[in-house]
Amino acid sequence: MKAVKTIDRKQVRPTDAYIEDNMEPKTVAFSTITVVQQMMDVDANIAGNVHGGSIMKLVDNTACMVGMRHTGGNAVTVSLDRLDFHSPVYVGDILRIKTSVNFVGSTSMEIGARIEAESVLTGEVRHTASAYLTFVSLDPEGKPRQIPQIICETDRERERFAAALKRKEKRSEARKEVKERSQQKQLQAS
Ligand SMILES: CC(C)(COP(=O)(O)OP(=O)(O)OC[C@H]1O[C@@H](n2cnc3c(N)ncnc32)[C@H](O)[C@@H]1OP(=O)(O)O)[C@@H](O)C(=O)NCCC(=O)NCCS
Repeated sequence: MKAVKTIDRKQVRPTDAYIEDNMEPKTVAFSTITVVQQMMDVDANIAGNVHGGSIMKLVDNTACMVGMRHTGGNAVTVSLDRLDFHSPVYVGDILRIKTSVNFVGSTSMEIGARIEAESVLTGEVRHTASAYLTFVSLDPEGKPRQIPQIICETDRERERFAAALKRKEKRSEARKEVKERSQQKQLQAS
């Protein structure tokens, strides 16, 4: 990875100069992250299985690291497409969260997450869930800022990019409809 020169280590946020220096397109591989963690008692719900919220937080954190690595700056969650749990995760299981950038727009990016649980005793791997998260890069005033484009190097990455573009279009349409409906309601109420 490129050496980090312009970050003041005492500051949490990278400098604007660092972000501007990092606008060249990045490969998907550059920011891909897999987090592996064994689920412990503290992650359990009252039934004794792993709490869905614990997994959601790990997914969000992991995707955030991908977004920060890709942009070289601050990235915040703006949306999470549905997250279905296909099978339970048990205390003791090894949770594997694989995340990578699927698509980059102008200021936002879609990050895909695949969550697997592995039985530490038998090695059996279960596909537990998948999710698509949208992150936006923000400037110091909290306004969306331009982010680097991605370079898709494999057919799979190109397929993910095309599918993510369609999802982004659908999300934009849905937001537009919600906005229009709320404007209509306001007009009717006034
Ligand atoms: C992110 C935020 C600044 C976007 O504000 P906005 O006025 O909607 O900005 P824009 O309409 O210019 O959209 C900016 C980008 O975000 C995308 N976006 C905005 N809302 C979105 C949503 N609900 N779902 C998916 N993408 C969304 C837009 O498509 C656009 O992408 P593009 O530049 O790549 O085309 C604002 O929604 C915000 O501050 N949200 C809170 C984020 C946060 O704090 N998250 C942590 C949880 S506490």
